[in-house]
Parts: sequence; C-alpha cells; structure tokens
Amino acid sequence: MPLVTSKEMFRKAYEGGYAIGAFNVNNMEIIQGITEAAKEVNAPLILQVSAGARKYAKHTYLMKLVEAAIEDTGLPICLHLDHGEDFEVCKSCIDGGFTSVMIDGSKHSFEKNIEVTRQVVEYAHAHGVVVEGELGRLAGVEDEVNVSAAESSYTDPNQVEEFVKATGVDSLAIAIGTSHGAFKFKPGQKPQLRFDILEEVGKRLPGFPIVLHGASSVIPEYVATINSHGGKLADAIGIPEEMLRQAACMAVCKINIDSDLRLAMTAGVRQYMNEHPDHFDPRQYLKPGRDNIHQLVKNKIINVLGSDGKV
Ligand code: G3H
Ligand code: 13P
Ligand code: ZN
Repeated sequence: MPLVTSKEMFRKAYEGGYAIGAFNVNNMEIIQGITEAAKEVNAPLILQVSAGARKYAKHTYLMKLVEAAIEDTGLPICLHLDHGEDFEVCKSCIDGGFTSVMIDGSKHSFEKNIEVTRQVVEYAHAHGVVVEGELGRLAGVEDEVNVSAAESSYTDPNQVEEFVKATGVDSLAIAIGTSHGAFKFKPGQKPQLRFDILEEVGKRLPGFPIVLHGASSVIPEYVATINSHGGKLADAIGIPEEMLRQAACMAVCKINIDSDLRLAMTAGVRQYMNEHPDHFDPRQYLKPGRDNIHQLVKNKIINVLGSDGKV
C-alpha cells in the first residue's frame, strides 16, 4: 500500500467521533514502536516529521523507514510535515513524497498567514497533497520555535471561516490552551482548555477537521521513572487524557503527540542504563525505549484517540 493522505481518515474520524494520532518520528526505533502498536490495535496513523527531524535523520532515511513500516504492517499511513515554516520547506516535502504538509503561518499577521498558506495549498493540491494551516498561537518550546506564554494567543472563532475559505486548507490547527513541550502548566495550576472556542469553531466550520497540537499528557509514570533514575523533570505537567478524549469527540480529528514519545523512550533507556551500568550494546538499551513507545501508543489509541479498529 502506498502512503495515503489524511482526507479519508479525517472524514471517518469526524463522523465517528474519534481522532487520528499524529506522532512525531525521528528514528527507526520510534517508527517501529508506533507502527507496531497501531498494527496491534488496527488503527490508521499519521507519522509527522519536523524540520529538526529532517535535519537529524535526513529526509530520505525517514521516507524509507516509513515505507518499510507500511510494508511491514500494511497500515494506511499518512506522512506529514509538522510546522512547515515557509513555502520552500513545504515544497521540498511535497516533491520528496510526503502526502500532507503543515504550513505554520501562525507567527504572521492574519493577512500574511492567508497569503503564505494559500501559496502552499495551490502547490500541494496540484500534487495531490493535503495541507494543514494554523490560526492562533500555542505557547511552548520546539527545536526551531520558542513562544512564551505572553506571546501565545487563543484562536479567534470569528476568523476561521474567512481563513479556511481564502486559503483552501484541508484542516486547521487551533489554539485552545494546549502548548508544546513537557511543561504545559505550572505546579498547582489547574489544567484547562477553552472548549467554548472549540465548540464555536465547530459551529462555524461544520464537518471540517480541527487539529490539536501540544497534546501530550506528560504521563506521570514515565516522568517518575526518569526522575528515579537520575533525571530532573520536577515540574513536567501535561494535558489530562479525559480532556483530549472530549476534544476527539468534538471537531478535533488529529491529535499531535511528541513529548510523551520522548519521555517514554527516555524512561526506558535511562532505567536500563541505570540498572545495567556494564552494558554498552545500543540494541539492549534502545529496546526498552521502543517497548515503552509501543505501550504508550497502544494506550493512546485505545483510551484517548478512540481510533482502534478503524482501519
Ligand atoms: O511541535 C513540535 C514537535 O514537538 C517537534 O519538535 O522541532 O524539536 O523536532 P522538534
Ligand atoms: P507535544 O509537545 O505536546 O507532544 O506536542 C507535539 C506537537 O504539537 C507536534 O506538532
Ligand atoms: Zn505542534
């Protein structure tokens, strides 16, 4: 089976009240952990690649690893560029075989965001590729972007119809209080999401797929394992799983998860290294990381996304 776009996945997810997991990939162990878990529970998948991932692993390696995962599992997989910064990086991924790209124009003015997004949509659609745009700005830290809480802003529902109509995007990422990274809320702060904004956006764009970035739950079990084996992640706090489940039952069709994968992998590696200080075969310490990713993704699909059995 070749790579697929997310079009059909989103149509079914919207109608069925569930969401597709969009997991960030950077190497073979991460790709295997995710895809083998999805295979076990028969879930469609989006694998996404950031600019940082392309720099680390190279486009060709990631492309071939994802092709290998499709051959191995037979799953429908969409390969997506995460947070494309400009037209050039989107074009490079479209030309290089991706089936979906995000153009993240959220740092621009509304008008400029429309202009850059429309340019990507024109090129992508001419090549059979779908496009995710973003309105509103998430807080948090990624490789290439660092947005402070003061610079972040919720999506304005009054802008979404005009944005979607003017750009022709296939899905829209919105800001309702999630943020990137493992430190989403301060200790003692009650995690909250603006479901009123999501509901209003859903009303303005009936049937249209909405995307939630920054949706890791920062699983306490992995944080505890890391901290009990020499790590220092004292205040790592994420989005409660029941809130993500609620969003998946609404207009949210794609839920982005990266930090939880990083924590799961790191917990497995740290624990193994700590318990076996005399071992130095990478296969021995990477396997527990990959196993943790497998378990994490399986739990997400069943308990949060609701995409199990949907292939
Ligand atoms: O939202 C961004 C993802 O977590 C990717 O992070 O740019 O560090 O690869 P990265
Ligand atoms: P997390 O940092 O919450 O995993 O978010 C990932 C993301 O939004 C990737 O685009
Ligand atoms: Zn993101």
